[in-house]
Amino acid sequence: MCGIVGYTGPKEAYPIVITGLKRLEYRGYDSTGVALLNGGLKVYKKKGRVADLEAAVLGENLHAHTGIGHTRWATHGEPSDVNAHPHLSASGKLAMIHNGIIENYAQLKKELSNKGYVFKSETDTEVLLNFIEDIRENNQCDLEEAVRVALKRVTGAYVILLVDQDQPDTIIAARKGSPLVIGVGKGEHFLGSDASPMLEYTKEVVYVNDYELAIVKPNELILKNLGNEKLTPFVTKLDMELAAIEKGGYDHFMLKEIFEQPLTIHDCLRGRLDANAGTITMSGVANNIEHFKNAGRIIIVACGTSWHAGLVAEYIIEELCRIPVEVEYASEFRYRNPVINKGDIIFAISQSGETADTLVAIERAKEQGAIIFGIVNVVGSSIARISDGGAYTHAGPEIGVASTKAFTGQLAVLTMVALKIAKEKGRISDERYQQLLVELEAVPEKVAAILKNAPAIKAIAEKYKGATDALFLGRGYNFPIALEGALKLKEISYIHAEGYPAAEMKHGPIALVDENLPVVFVATKDAYHEKIVSNIQEIKARKGQVIAIITEEDDLIPALANEVFYVPPADEIIAPMLSCIPLQLLSYYMGVARGVDVDKPRNLAKSVTVE
Ligand code: M6R
Repeated sequence: MCGIVGYTGPKEAYPIVITGLKRLEYRGYDSTGVALLNGGLKVYKKKGRVADLEAAVLGENLHAHTGIGHTRWATHGEPSDVNAHPHLSASGKLAMIHNGIIENYAQLKKELSNKGYVFKSETDTEVLLNFIEDIRENNQCDLEEAVRVALKRVTGAYVILLVDQDQPDTIIAARKGSPLVIGVGKGEHFLGSDASPMLEYTKEVVYVNDYELAIVKPNELILKNLGNEKLTPFVTKLDMELAAIEKGGYDHFMLKEIFEQPLTIHDCLRGRLDANAGTITMSGVANNIEHFKNAGRIIIVACGTSWHAGLVAEYIIEELCRIPVEVEYASEFRYRNPVINKGDIIFAISQSGETADTLVAIERAKEQGAIIFGIVNVVGSSIARISDGGAYTHAGPEIGVASTKAFTGQLAVLTMVALKIAKEKGRISDERYQQLLVELEAVPEKVAAILKNAPAIKAIAEKYKGATDALFLGRGYNFPIALEGALKLKEISYIHAEGYPAAEMKHGPIALVDENLPVVFVATKDAYHEKIVSNIQEIKARKGQVIAIITEEDDLIPALANEVFYVPPADEIIAPMLSCIPLQLLSYYMGVARGVDVDKPRNLAKSVTVE
């Protein structure tokens, strides 16, 4: 949550910072601000999007070689001009931006208020900033030392960028729990919540770790820990092009990302799956193969869409590997006292690799001796780095707030992992293994075929766009897909939607059914097909509007449903990667038809780095 950008070097800072903020807007978009050092310290900030700030500063002298910028997802204090970052210290000499939450800010605020500090905003950030300034003045130390002392008192999560009008070429940065990347250029440095603000300038980056502090000048990058010991920055080469973070002619990132899926799934399988040779090559699994073979249990922790991928994996792993699987919301897992046995493996699934609850959940599990296997999209992210092993989903940057291509990447990785373990454990017949490899390899092509029929889903979306509620029902492997369809519709169209196991609907939700309620059945051909046909009959008997996602050869459901959308035939283990696609399209087209900004729906942020 919240995007942060910084630049110091010979170039004009403002255009770099503002372009960077536009790329990071997916992280939060309720207010924006910049601080520029140009002889003095100037702060411009505004409620609203980056474009609103740009309009507000037209005509201002924005010349500066050092600057920081912030796009906010509000935690403390409503979105407003005054709560927007950067914040100025009481003296007006320091400006700071912050991503995260200072949990003990109320205590610090009380201490500072007793000393006479008056706060303009309701934010925890302004408290931390004045706390730093107070330490600098009282301890008569330099700013770097004041930051160190302050951060040792702070509980919570943060990335901060701090500038001082008396050090016009310096940015002080520190992180704990929220992401920070520093781009290393020639005589210049870039800072960002991810690498997107610096892509056209440098491919050399340093991922800052928790409890590290950086003093960043054009020609110098000093990295230290909070104990003031110097560290050697580890420079990594980025494998990402600018085109990957642009819309490429699509109206929205979400649509682009949906349509990229034949390619992203192919990229995920590439170099790993070889159906001809009958092999799956995954070093993250191979390196831990004895652990996997002997695992007493797999516990999957994740949030949101990634949690839904975990639910699909539960079905697949238990079926193929006969290892018990539990799927946990990371936010619950981290605060209860779960039993973790020797030999348990924790799967952490995350697109961003920065979700605070998932990150802390695996830290806790690691402390108890669990092995962590990360299934992550963002290379070099915190979850990827803390994991003992893992597999990247290789879906490329996902910018639309609604997760789409990362989800199918997660399903592809999890299916490969399950197949690999099943094979190593001797739990799967050669014939079934080979059949599933061939089917998995065919997924990109089948997804492409589904996407060709996008206009059919668009027509359904147009017809039902006025709905106020919707039910999504599925059984077996398609039950988590029903949950995912409901989540997508909620976040992108603001239509209230619920996902249920189709049979469970008789235990309550069926009371909602009337002639106005769209009920989306994820009903591809599988072992439960006849059962779900009965569930469709039950909805029709109560006049519900049935929209069914079905397999091409289905000859029962078309006669019952109001609308059908066909997907190619596939094994039930593979089917979720296909049946989720029309649901992504349905939510996208409904959102657009209802006038929602689908890439940045209200109240949401792409990466949830606060708990
Ligand atoms: O980055 P993560 O996969 O850890 O994010 C988890 C959820 O925040 C995320 O899936 C969220 O639910 C999406 N907005 C769903 O589309």
